[in-house]
Amino acid sequence: MNKPIRILGIAGSLRNTSFNRGVLRAATQLAPDGAIIEIFELDGIPGFNQDQEQNPPEKVAEFKRKIREADAILFVTPEYNYSVPGVLKNAIDWASRPYGDSAWNGKPAAIMGASVGGIATARAQYHLRQMMVFLNMFPVNQPEVMIGNAAEKFDEQGNLTDETTKGFIRQLLENLVTWTHRLAEEPKKMEQGG
Ligand SMILES: Cc1cc2nc3c(=O)[nH]c(=O)nc-3n(C[C@H](O)[C@H](O)[C@H](O)COP(=O)(O)O)c2cc1C
Repeated sequence: MNKPIRILGIAGSLRNTSFNRGVLRAATQLAPDGAIIEIFELDGIPGFNQDQEQNPPEKVAEFKRKIREADAILFVTPEYNYSVPGVLKNAIDWASRPYGDSAWNGKPAAIMGASVGGIATARAQYHLRQMMVFLNMFPVNQPEVMIGNAAEKFDEQGNLTDETTKGFIRQLLENLVTWTHRLAEEPKKMEQGG
């Protein structure tokens, strides 16, 4: 039997009743058999300072350790001013440094996002995909889980209540697990000349 796929879930909001943190909580319940999602909270990560990248703060060191231990990464991002929130970009930057010691290198990933607006984090998600080119990450393409008009799909505590959305999340997580297994097989195939 395969070992469970360990997914590190990262939400780009610190807000108490955040829709995106609610999506991530829902994802932990919707993950398929054979996958476990562990949540990493970004609060407490200071602003990036390149003077400290060789000896980063403990929270950043822990973040990099968790990323390295994970088989795959799940980002759940709000959209701020047509891009990803600073807290998420800041965390991504920390874990990508120092040059040559990025924790993101080669990781399979999936992206989701919830917004109060109708464009539903599309612009933020494509910025995140653009970052993944340089980070050498491998995001699943579909389904694109872009949750618009979030106020109608969550309760007052920020818990996701919309069943259609839960179906998309379930599908994306299944695809992430399949994709992660596939990428893990590739090096073996190459060794075998396949
Ligand atoms: C600084 C800021 C910028 C925002 N910019 C956008 C935006 O560009 N597009 C959008 O759809 N919503 C935008 N919003 C609204 C967010 O969708 C909304 O605040 C959402 O609840 C944030 O996610 P959260 O609930 O996970 O914290 C913005 C909110 C803030 C605070």
